[in-house]
Amino acid sequence: MRVLVIGGGGREHALVHKLSESSQVDDIWCFPGNAGTGQIAKIPNLVSAKCDVLADFALAEDIDLTIVGPENYLAAGIVDLFHSHGLTIFGPTQKAAQIESSKVFAKELMKTHNIPTAAYGVFSDYDSAKAYIEAMGVPIVIKADGLAAGKGVIVAEDTETALAAAQATLSGKQVGEAGRQIVIEEFLSGQEVSILALCDGTTCIPLVPSQDHKTIGEGDQGPNTGGMGAYSPVPVVDKALEKTVYDTILIPTLAALRQEGIEYTGVLYAGLMLTESGPKVIEFNCRFGDPETQVILPRLKTDLVDLLLAASQGRLADCQPLDWDPRACVCVIAASEGYPGAYTSGFTIKGLEAVAGLSDVYTYHAGTAWRDGKMVTAGGRVLGVSALGDDIRQARERAYEALGKLDFDGMYYRSDIGWRALE
Ligand code: AMP
Ligand code: GLY
Repeated sequence: MRVLVIGGGGREHALVHKLSESSQVDDIWCFPGNAGTGQIAKIPNLVSAKCDVLADFALAEDIDLTIVGPENYLAAGIVDLFHSHGLTIFGPTQKAAQIESSKVFAKELMKTHNIPTAAYGVFSDYDSAKAYIEAMGVPIVIKADGLAAGKGVIVAEDTETALAAAQATLSGKQVGEAGRQIVIEEFLSGQEVSILALCDGTTCIPLVPSQDHKTIGEGDQGPNTGGMGAYSPVPVVDKALEKTVYDTILIPTLAALRQEGIEYTGVLYAGLMLTESGPKVIEFNCRFGDPETQVILPRLKTDLVDLLLAASQGRLADCQPLDWDPRACVCVIAASEGYPGAYTSGFTIKGLEAVAGLSDVYTYHAGTAWRDGKMVTAGGRVLGVSALGDDIRQARERAYEALGKLDFDGMYYRSDIGWRALE
């Protein structure tokens, strides 16, 4: 079988690695990929990264299954395009991807169908936004409607910050067109957890829970990043809570989408706040999480190809229950100094061979490249080390031990990944 993975981050390296372990897979391509995916997958030489160029490639190479990592391709309708060519692709259609690409769409769906989420209002002019903020009080959360690469959400502790956020977002200064409409939302407190589920339109199979660490600083301080680490399982999520999420969020969301005429296929990623009155949706994503995927896939023992094909072909109900490694997994991301602000790239990455020899440790590349025969840094988040262990504490120790063998100029990582689980 011939498989194409679209994307070039740690998530895609983890996907490519897992797919390469399947006896069904003969050839894998990954575009645009990175130096890590390049060691196991071929990198297509394409004239551009556009959807139609990728579809032409998939047709020419007889690709049997395409898996899409990043949301922007899904929001652009790559799944619809591949379907129109009769190609099998794992991911939601453009309409279905609105669950991530439009926060207004997601909130209205949840409100109409009684799916637990924060109270909110939708605004496109500043005066009504201001009146709502003043009536609701602080803390309050301001969100751009559209995709904003993680920069669209501002949690405001005081009214001045909230008003400034609404103004900057609506005016287009904050995130451009994505902010022409905003959602202003009740602040929810509690622990955050990610529940990702494979969906085929009707059936949904949740994956093991995970928690990521979004901020750059220790103790979850400082600006948000693409994710500085993750762990799975999450001790606060027990079987009963998993069932509540399935019964009150995942299944109702798929049913709600079907009522709106949308068959949701792909990963439905529920970003949840575990509040005192139960789990509530903070956001939906229409794809695998990064770095959640880097702690979920090392634990998956079922053949990923079977699952993704079954989801793409509406056959998830026929799948056996998933087989999971009971051990814990912790992933720590190493970033370039300065990230998420400005940073310098091109530094040699040392120690990869030493880590490659460790069992149950996976180095997933993100911003890496080959230059003059050397592996160098080529992005903000450079790589992540995922390690399995008997429990979170041991997995974390093993991840940090492995990370200690790696080095590049300006290497930065948080030393507290998993702290909530260990408290
Ligand atoms: P998002 O980009 O939607 O994941 O939001 C980024 C982060 O903002 C989330 O991970 C939360 O930490 C925080 N956040 C978003 N919505 C809320 C909310 N209603 N209450 C509290 N925190 C929130
Ligand atoms: N880990 C957050 C995300 O994938 O959006």
